Amino acid sequence: MLLEVKEITVAYDTALVLDGVSLGIDKGEFVSIVGANGAGKTTLLRTICGLMHWEKEMMRGMRKEISNIIIEGDIFFNGENISKVPAAKRAERGLILCPEGGRPYRELTVIDNLKTGAFLIKEKRKVRQLLEEVYGLFPVLKERKRQTSGTLSGGERTMLAIGRALMSNPTILLIDEPSLGLAPKLKGEVFKRIEAIFGTGITVLLVEQDVNRALNLASRNYVLSQGRVVFEGTSDELRGEEKIKKAYLGL
Ligand SMILES: Nc1ncnc2c1ncn2[C@@H]1O[C@H](COP(=O)(O)OP(=O)(O)OP(=O)(O)O)[C@@H](O)[C@H]1O
Ligand SMILES: [Mg+2]
Repeated sequence: MLLEVKEITVAYDTALVLDGVSLGIDKGEFVSIVGANGAGKTTLLRTICGLMHWEKEMMRGMRKEISNIIIEGDIFFNGENISKVPAAKRAERGLILCPEGGRPYRELTVIDNLKTGAFLIKEKRKVRQLLEEVYGLFPVLKERKRQTSGTLSGGERTMLAIGRALMSNPTILLIDEPSLGLAPKLKGEVFKRIEAIFGTGITVLLVEQDVNRALNLASRNYVLSQGRVVFEGTSDELRGEEKIKKAYLGL
């Protein structure tokens, strides 16, 4: 297994967000996580890449309404327990998150935003090579490289977010809701690019509201509900699970 998540529990004080979640992804697999709003999908991705630990440290004494974030369980990456490894070190090892909403630095140009994705890469030549790969995948980003990122359209911003994640040279890319707010045609474009990225050998863990598209891309899927895995199986298996689809996915 490239990534193995074992019994992850996350709680804001006593409010349980993840309740013993376990999952695994082999190298070269495309896996999806689907589930209703508030199921804990984003929290799970943030826990895997180390951002929840970072948040826990950051909020010490800063938020009055919450006194503690509880994070339990283990995460193995390439067989090594990385549960205590800080987020930046996880990124350095190739565990990269493309966050919900993209979150570009709005005041930076497109090219500068892309370069922030490569801040851990010391070799200039490697950065140039990654940039060319990203431009190859998203020609619109090349056309708009000098434009301020805050002025991009929603679709362009999504592509920038994925491009920036690629600049970190991922082994596994965790993508959180890439189609959020996009028109159907643009959605199709974005998913085509994600498929192409997967085709280059990058392992993908995708969180997506558009269940049908997620199932078409992924070979295996996890359904999350109220912080628990309620189903795990291939896309064909999930398509045949009428009860699960109705109860948890609104299909
Ligand atoms: N910083 C926080 N403080 C308190 N509660 C939080 C915090 N972040 C998330 N939660 C709660 O954790 C639960 C899961 O949130 P999360 O964002 O992981 O869900 P999600 O499955 O990604 O939902 P969506 O599909 O809407 O993106 C929600 O009930 C949310 O309100
Ligand atoms: Mg989310």
